[in-house]
Amino acid sequence: MSSPKDFSGRDIVSARDFGRDQLEYVLKTTEDVENGSRSLDGAQSGKLAALLFFEPSTRTYSSFQIAAEKLGMKVTGFAGPSGSSVTKGETLHDTIKMFEGYGADVFVVRHSKMGAARFASEITGRPVINAGDGSREHPTQAMLDLYAIRKAFGRIDGLKIGMLGDLRYGRTSSSLAYALSNFDVEITFIAPGALQMRNEVTRFLGKKGVTHRKESELRAVARDLDVLYVTRIQKERIPDPTEFAKVKGLYEVNLEALREAKPTLKVLHPLPRVDELATEVDDTSYAHYFVQAAGGLPLRAVLMNLILGGSN
Ligand code: NCD
Repeated sequence: MSSPKDFSGRDIVSARDFGRDQLEYVLKTTEDVENGSRSLDGAQSGKLAALLFFEPSTRTYSSFQIAAEKLGMKVTGFAGPSGSSVTKGETLHDTIKMFEGYGADVFVVRHSKMGAARFASEITGRPVINAGDGSREHPTQAMLDLYAIRKAFGRIDGLKIGMLGDLRYGRTSSSLAYALSNFDVEITFIAPGALQMRNEVTRFLGKKGVTHRKESELRAVARDLDVLYVTRIQKERIPDPTEFAKVKGLYEVNLEALREAKPTLKVLHPLPRVDELATEVDDTSYAHYFVQAAGGLPLRAVLMNLILGGSN
């Protein structure tokens, strides 16, 4: 079983860096914090979190901010490029160095370039949390997705999980696939060819012996799924506007699309949604995305506390 020492001083850059024991430890600790049997209030008081979001964000930024404040930390940084010197051309390197000089104890970095968080972790000796880099990884989102799945079913093993949408350019689905590879699950990637899951991810799953397949239509598989993870088309990352025009509006999860789904199906979405998930689903027992988002707060508090050497 994992213990706090497995986390102290670590970076959280890729969902691939964490094994089953460590993930289960994070999930269990998050559950304890959420149900009130453990408290992290003030556990890191006096420390400073630098939230450096080179790409716009609302929920991820605020959940890290509230989580850090819950730990008693001070928060500095910026929630998008417009409020920072990035618009003047300041580099990631210089920004990290500057906030290091201001005494940041932990960095939370979001960036449009893949590998940015790894690069940041090489610049500073303080722990770096990847809050999303390009189309590649979003490991804390993957952990909160696991937490939401476990909360709904009491387990992760044995579930059939569908991921739908822009799997090629979305970073949440690849990180989630990596995290799920530690469990006994079946994954179905549902997307039109142009948006299908990247080979580097399916190769990884193949090597780990995870059952997975690709489908183009939700209709063909909806009735088999326990979890449907819906994602938005990542308009800002699709290199060619004519490619975007071809896939725009191609899928929408609504009650009609879920007609044959199991009554116990849970629909997840990392949010924000655009038009791929109809609001009519919100009032059904399928909707699990707001519960999912809420879990991000205790989970991020647990992670920051652990990497800062907290004993909980
Ligand atoms: C996601 C992201 O930024 O990758 N959002 C999030 O962190 N909850 C998903 C998205 O933007 O579509």
